[in-house]
Formats: sequence, C-alpha cells, structure tokens
Amino acid sequence: MSYSNKVIDHYENPRNVGALDKNDPHVGTGMVGAPSCGDVMKLQIKVGDNGVIEDAKFKTYGCGSAIASSSLVTEWLKGKSLDEAKTIKNSQIADELELPPVKIHCSVLAEDAIKAAIADYQAKHGK
Ligand code: FES
Ligand code: FES
Repeated sequence: MSYSNKVIDHYENPRNVGALDKNDPHVGTGMVGAPSCGDVMKLQIKVGDNGVIEDAKFKTYGCGSAIASSSLVTEWLKGKSLDEAKTIKNSQIADELELPPVKIHCSVLAEDAIKAAIADYQAKHGK
C-alpha cells in the first residue's frame, strides 16, 4: 500500500504537535483509541470567550494515516465555532488525504477525537 503525497506531507511535517494544559477551563481534551489496531490519538482545542477555536494540538501514537488525519484536523479546527467543528466528518478527512479503505478507521479516529474534545470542553462549562 502506498501513502498519498498529502499523508506523507503531514507525516513528515506534522502541524500543531504538542499539548495544551488540560486543566485550563478554555481547553477541551479528547483521547480516543482504535480497537482494531491499538492506535491512540489525543486532540486538544482551546476555545476563546467568543466560542471560536483559537488553538488545537495533537499527539498521536499510531500509523502515518492517523498522524496525518490528526495533523490535518488541527488545521481545520482553528477559527471554527464548536458547532462548525462538530460537522467535520471522517469522510472529508479521508477524501482530503486520499485514504484507502483499510485506512478509513484512521480518519474515524480523528472525527471521534474532535467530538471527544468538544464534549470535554462543554462538560467543563456545564453542558
Ligand atoms: Fe496503527 Fe500501525 S496500525 S500504527
Ligand atoms: Fe489504525 Fe491508522 S489508526 S491503522
């Protein structure tokens, strides 16, 4: 199986690797795992008082497609409202990265991580 150029680009130059303070009330943290391969993805968002995502960071212990999926979504998340972020679908990620069928679950991991990070943020704010 060969990786697309976009996967290789994100894999070699991952955007927004790192961590935000998970105890910061503006930060939501999502940690998800893929049962089929054991890969783990941590995605964090920092939300401004205006409800817009100002920053996003990730750490992924996994395959190239999982790293590329999380790197890509950190770019997509910045500047979006939480409602907009919730609409990001794994199929958009898979299309952008030209993932083959066996790697679709890597993009599902990224969608799940976004939803988990938003849920954590909203739980901190009583939602
Ligand atoms: Fe996830 Fe290889 S299957 S790292
Ligand atoms: Fe399992 Fe990519 S996340 S192979």
